[in-house]
Amino acid sequence: MKEISIGYLSRRTGVATSALRYYETLGLITPNRNAGGQRRYPRSDIRRISLIMAAQRFGFTLPRINDLLRRLPNGRTPSKADWEIIGDLFHSELTEKINELERLRDTLSSCIGCGCLSMTACALYNPEDQAYRHGPGPRYLMGNAPHKI
Ligand code: FES
Repeated sequence: MKEISIGYLSRRTGVATSALRYYETLGLITPNRNAGGQRRYPRSDIRRISLIMAAQRFGFTLPRINDLLRRLPNGRTPSKADWEIIGDLFHSELTEKINELERLRDTLSSCIGCGCLSMTACALYNPEDQAYRHGPGPRYLMGNAPHKI
């Protein structure tokens, strides 16, 4: 079976046919049409959809996933080398996300520079809400360093 129907793709991936059609409008997948006008997908789209699902679980937006997947060839089954390129791109972005999550985890119990001044640590790390000079939001979570004591 070289090409598969939308129903088969939906059953194999667990993604609703309506979502598959939505992915198509975003350009994430590009099915062919048979003589009767029905969508026909390369079997490799099972892997493509599975990767989209996994990437969404890790917090990638559909437009960002689309940017990354555009590096895959159009009209032919991606090779191992093609997938390695995509894997490297996801790997570096995932590493950044992991670093951000670790920073979030490690700073949640201390002052995050949000301006609430509700912890005793705020008087040390963010006296009189000095973090606000960097802009709105939890400045120390967003990458600004507390002032030097
Ligand atoms: S936790 Fe909000 S300013 Fe310190």
